[in-house]
Amino acid sequence: MGTAAEIDVLLALATRLAREAGALQRSRYETELAIDTKSQPVDLVTEVDRACEAHLVAALARERPADAVLAEEGGGHDRAGAIWRWVIDPLDGTTNYAHGYPRFAVSIGVEREGEPALGVVYDPLLDELYHAVAGGGAFRNGRAIHVSREAALERALLATGFAYDKAVNDDDNVAEFRAALKGAREVRRDGSAALDLCYVAAGRFDGYWEFRLAAWDVAAGGLIVREAGGRVSDAAGGPGWRSGRQVVATNGRVHGALLELLARARR
Ligand code: IPD
Ligand code: CA
Ligand code: CA
Repeated sequence: MGTAAEIDVLLALATRLAREAGALQRSRYETELAIDTKSQPVDLVTEVDRACEAHLVAALARERPADAVLAEEGGGHDRAGAIWRWVIDPLDGTTNYAHGYPRFAVSIGVEREGEPALGVVYDPLLDELYHAVAGGGAFRNGRAIHVSREAALERALLATGFAYDKAVNDDDNVAEFRAALKGAREVRRDGSAALDLCYVAAGRFDGYWEFRLAAWDVAAGGLIVREAGGRVSDAAGGPGWRSGRQVVATNGRVHGALLELLARARR
């Protein structure tokens, strides 16, 4: 099978799996949930995060046995010599989900030999499915999406998030948030990095930044922003965003100004 044909197969599978996990999230939304904590008292995992991940990883082991899988809750597996790697956040927006705040998603990225090849993010409540294939544009429910055209940071609607160690780490994004709040039109903190990125791709946000995320938060959304005509970088404007450690994603036009504002706030 050629790469293009295989990408079609992978996209169809990623889409199906994202919808299946999303259906599970929808069915358990606002029901009684078993909830545990992870790295910090505010870092939650619900039984639905785990059930979604188990479903996704089992399906991939069955249907794509040669592929590697990295998944947030630890259920993934390495495969020696794998060409394809799936990078999965089974439920992005767990705090929202646990509180019944209607903003969360399934995020599935696929890399080919270490490079982003495709991404799917599914919001099960709005039934919005975002996808992109490298070099093929970005889409929501099958329709092409594009980043906004706003060129002035003062008129930009931005989004950000705060890492789970904010109570114990002074590098807490508060100075950056303050600077952006004063320098841009508004800043949202909506609790799902994957959706924040898709909203940049769709022109709902003009820019987004966050620190200390992980690869599964940005694998799909970062590609979707790029394919929608936007720019994704680390805080220095370089390519190091894929680890999630530093992510700045914009429509491209406000990128330089946002990088500068963040750098000034961090000094
Ligand atoms: C979190 C969300 C949130 C971001 C956190 C992430 P999770 O992911 O994307 O918006 O601010 O840093 O860890 O834990 O809900 O999958
Ligand atoms: Ca996440
Ligand atoms: Ca998650």
